[in-house]
Amino acid sequence: MSLNFRIPLAKPDINEDDVKAVEEVLRSSILSIGPKVVEFEKMMADYVGAKCAVAVNSGTSALHLLVRIAGLEPGDFLVTTPFTFIASANVALFERAFPIFVDIDEKTLNMDADALEDLLIKVRKGDFEICGHKVNRVKILMGVDILGQPMDWDRALKLCEEHGITAIEDSCEAIGAEYKGRRIGTFGLAGTFAFYPNKQITTGEGGIIVSNNLEVCALAKSMRNQGRGEGDAWLHHVRLGYNYRLDEMSAALGVSQMKRIDTILDRRAEVATKYNELFQNTSVETHYIAPYTTRMSWFVYVVRLPEGSNRDKIMEYMAEKGIQTRNYFACVHLQPFYRKMNYTEGMYPVAEKISKRTLALPFFNQIKPEEQEEVVSTLLEALERVG
Ligand SMILES: Cc1ncc(COP(=O)(O)O)c(C=O)c1O
Repeated sequence: MSLNFRIPLAKPDINEDDVKAVEEVLRSSILSIGPKVVEFEKMMADYVGAKCAVAVNSGTSALHLLVRIAGLEPGDFLVTTPFTFIASANVALFERAFPIFVDIDEKTLNMDADALEDLLIKVRKGDFEICGHKVNRVKILMGVDILGQPMDWDRALKLCEEHGITAIEDSCEAIGAEYKGRRIGTFGLAGTFAFYPNKQITTGEGGIIVSNNLEVCALAKSMRNQGRGEGDAWLHHVRLGYNYRLDEMSAALGVSQMKRIDTILDRRAEVATKYNELFQNTSVETHYIAPYTTRMSWFVYVVRLPEGSNRDKIMEYMAEKGIQTRNYFACVHLQPFYRKMNYTEGMYPVAEKISKRTLALPFFNQIKPEEQEEVVSTLLEALERVG
């Protein structure tokens, strides 16, 4: 994250209570495996309405533990969207399994449920092959709630049930979002949230698993802690584990931030609404919110530039004026090392087409209305001059 820009892309919302909370931990001498992680987990489980939560040191760690717990093995297949952060797919590669993709819905930018259904029917019939792999079964759906908007969970879960697939919610970008009036996080086997400083709330680095399955949480607790069993001696390890623990300073920051989660989400919605208003009657398209999204949890503010715009030049123009922007998201399957696995252009045309036009604009709680106005007028100016 760069603060070298006059108007940066993101900025964490840190107040004096946050600073005090972290300071108290530092003075307590308990810097890891202490009460703050437990408190953070309890708050998160209560907020989501989950039976349990397990804090870890990143969203990626949370996803990794869940694919292991769901039994992903070498040679298995995990299905996800190409329009996401790379970790949603990479966790399959961590286990020598193979990530396959389903194209996105042009409006929501989430996985297209019709395309998922088509893929699963082909897999069932035994006539689906990708990148040289014959796919006989999909083990995991890594469902992503992209940019803070839920995917169509009812449809996805029905398909998972019909095809014997375990659903994991990658809600790393969507804490607090609601799907048909229900807060996301517990629709599948488990859900995950992430807390890098550009997220709605931050712990510095950090992530969390939420679930209604106590066994999932117990396994995740053991695996984040080098495979120790609950109450085991320090050098007793009952299974393969990792050091994915969240430290106490980070957890204390998380607790302090969670105390005002709804104020934070409301403020983000206010900033998004202001941008939406400023873009009215311009050639720039604002993000579509599906009727099933009863609460959007704004993570980043992404617009679509008119077709054929020169996005790189526009980003350069904005940067010269001190305004940071980013090309959220670049398709995962077109990343250099995915191309080496035989993924190529043309495989997911909707994601490829849209991702050439999307642009994330400065978006954070303390952004001033004048700054938003400047971002919008500079973008419109860029479109006229270099776009
Ligand atoms: C959709 C999605 N999944 C997973 C992650 C991984 O989270 P982290 O960066 O905390 O590892 C992110 C983070 O940006 C994300 O946006």
